[in-house]
Amino acid sequence: MLPNQVSIFEVGARDGLQNEKSVSTQDKIALIEGLANAGIKRIEAASFVSPKWVPQMADSGEVLKNINRNSAVTYSALTPNLKGLELALDAGADEVAIFGAASQSFSQRNINCSIEESIERFIPVIERAQAANVPVRGYVSCVLGCPYEGDIPSSEVARVSEILYKMGCYEISLGDTIGVGTPHNARKMVEEVSRKVPVDKLALHFHDTYGQALANILACLETGVSVIDSSVAGLGGCPYAKGASGNLATEDLVYMLHGLGIDTGIDLRLLASAGDAISQTLGKTTGSKVAQAMGK
Ligand code: HMG
Ligand code: MG
Repeated sequence: MLPNQVSIFEVGARDGLQNEKSVSTQDKIALIEGLANAGIKRIEAASFVSPKWVPQMADSGEVLKNINRNSAVTYSALTPNLKGLELALDAGADEVAIFGAASQSFSQRNINCSIEESIERFIPVIERAQAANVPVRGYVSCVLGCPYEGDIPSSEVARVSEILYKMGCYEISLGDTIGVGTPHNARKMVEEVSRKVPVDKLALHFHDTYGQALANILACLETGVSVIDSSVAGLGGCPYAKGASGNLATEDLVYMLHGLGIDTGIDLRLLASAGDAISQTLGKTTGSKVAQAMGK
């Protein structure tokens, strides 16, 4: 059975723009405000990572501090360590996210430590966030394959997800970082993880590299998952995962969900305008098929 409602967690301003050079702080803010205006309630707006690693996100504090805030929206930020967390709290993040992986090689390349070391590092981040009453989300990357190790067993995805959940993450977002999954594998993986973490605490974060994300999400929605990460105009990728293209375009996801009679609370036209505006800023054609069709 499909859910009546799906909560969309918009990652374009973070997962998308971390991969784009020279987007001004003002253009990032305009994107985030445009998304809120379209009815998106959960927006990942910033990433407090090392500016040496990802210079594109170096203005995250300025972005968060200068958004014209919509009180119905949760503005979230990535925080890999205590330093990032302190910066996020100072900038007024409503929610933060730690990000681990089900692949050792990806963990090493993305956050410069093993899975076990990352878990040690996350403990004080969660404690400090909880002391500040700020909810923590947890990502697990490479849930359907790794750019360095290939196949990743679902048992490992379930193991890392359970650790992050038991440590205090209120939701675990399962990342198909390089978009290699297909519907049956994706569904089986979610079923295996949901034996360790309640399915209503899971989210899907599927990159669309091989054009499978929408099909994978439809297959997984039948397991009871009802939180989906997506990226306006299909922006995105991960600088430490070669070949990771954008996330599933939010416009395409919303179109499918509305067509299935599933409520998202999002105005598709306003969403597509926000996507068109950032695509124009980037000098790119939108990565959303729906936005392309609507623009004709
Ligand atoms: P490190 O080099 O091991 O860290 O990097 P360090 O603690 O040794 O610090 C090195 C330098 O960075 C120091 O500066 C620190 O102060 C500074 P120096 O003394 O050399 O001048 N530093 C920081 N500065 C600002 N903010 C911070 C911070 N931390 C250290 N938070 C670290 C470890 C985790 C910092 C680094 O590896 C890093 O920043 N990695 C982030 C990589 C990244 O952003 N990847 C993309 C996001 S994840 C993703 O896209 C996947 C996802 O979408 C899900 C999916 O698709 O699967 C979430
Ligand atoms: Mg991602």
